[in-house]
Amino acid sequence: MLTGKTIILGVTGSIAAYKAAEIIRSLKALNANVRVIMTMNAAKFIGETTLQTLSGNPVYIDMFPDSSRVEDSLTHITVSNAADLFLIAPATANIIGKAANGIADDLLSTTLLSVGNKPVLIAPAMNERMYTNHIYKHNEKKLRISGIKFVDPEYGKLACGDEGDGRLASVDSIVQHVVNALMGEVVSDLKGKRILVTAGGTREHIDPVRFIGNPATGRMGFALARTAQIRGADVTLISGKTLLAPPDGVKYIQTETADQMRKFVLDSFKHADILVMAAAVGDFKPQKTEKNKIKRKGALRIDLEPTDDILEKLGKIKKDKIVVGFAAETNNLIKNAKSKLKKKNLDLIVVNDVTQSDAGFESETNIVKIIDKNNNVEELPKWTKEEVSHRIWDRIVKLVKK
Ligand SMILES: Cc1cc2nc3c(=O)[nH]c(=O)nc-3n(C[C@H](O)[C@H](O)[C@H](O)COP(=O)(O)O)c2cc1C
Repeated sequence: MLTGKTIILGVTGSIAAYKAAEIIRSLKALNANVRVIMTMNAAKFIGETTLQTLSGNPVYIDMFPDSSRVEDSLTHITVSNAADLFLIAPATANIIGKAANGIADDLLSTTLLSVGNKPVLIAPAMNERMYTNHIYKHNEKKLRISGIKFVDPEYGKLACGDEGDGRLASVDSIVQHVVNALMGEVVSDLKGKRILVTAGGTREHIDPVRFIGNPATGRMGFALARTAQIRGADVTLISGKTLLAPPDGVKYIQTETADQMRKFVLDSFKHADILVMAAAVGDFKPQKTEKNKIKRKGALRIDLEPTDDILEKLGKIKKDKIVVGFAAETNNLIKNAKSKLKKKNLDLIVVNDVTQSDAGFESETNIVKIIDKNNNVEELPKWTKEEVSHRIWDRIVKLVKK
């Protein structure tokens, strides 16, 4: 989504500086080129090496680097020339005060003065007493008047132990503001849509300590939920057990078994316009779950029965709602996926070969094909799950417009 865009990330001396690492990862997941300038004080909170490794670019700190090369001593100009957007996150009261008053006494503040008319986004983070101080407020107002946009901090627990306004906005919200600033019209294309996404794998207990499950981590469904929310949708995410944190602003329901998932999906489907079923729902469950742990004594036979097919049921009642399924296959990919698409009355099916490395379960990336009702097959390259998600939403947006 941010392919070809260069974002200069300014990091300042706030306790929230460690969150810059997460911001870089999220921007890189959208394919942005990220170049970091940190203040001397920021370097006391987070290591240059961390930000350099995550961004894949050198990190700039010194206004006057040791090198005698002229281009090095003009970093503030060369870096700002390359920028499509300048983001300061976290921004201290100090950098905001300096920017508001045209002070350029280090590399970050000097670069900020030299960005010209490129968009600037500031995400402040500070103690509530600093944030509500009228001198700070005056500085913020001056910057807003000059066209600089702010990602307002949140109310919550602050590093000093107090509770109040001033906590850095969430990484998701900061990234959403970056995307909006760079590609405003594209990102609100799911606005007003109520979207239900399922994620992760289900577990069917044999006894209290053992279950039949699958290796799904939830990453694909979580990426779908996060990207739908970024594009303006009202998102409900129903997931099997996972260690992932749900994206901010998304209604989140955690389930365990296929029966529980089915119940919540059927309930939520009534209020949804679009369902994307990325969860790997188990096809079988033990006929009975033992109340106590089964002791080891030779071979054990477990009789399984099929779980109810959620997608098939929804395909029958969907009317004009859009339903997209996933198929994790090991062989006859296209043939199996096309037959699932037809049998379950889906609008699109996303199929991947789970035997491939870097695809499907437990992977950061995915290699999928998207098949539509007319049997057209779109093959996507190896992309991050975020990128795959955006492509799926692009396809869904086209179906909505028809
Ligand atoms: C532990 C600690 C945490 C701090 N956190 C913040 C903060 O969140 N926000 C802020 O405005 N200043 C914070 N400060 C104060 C700044 O580090 C200080 O104002 C510094 O001069 C900012 O420099 P810079 O803006 O050049 O990075 C903190 C200081 C310390 C010692």
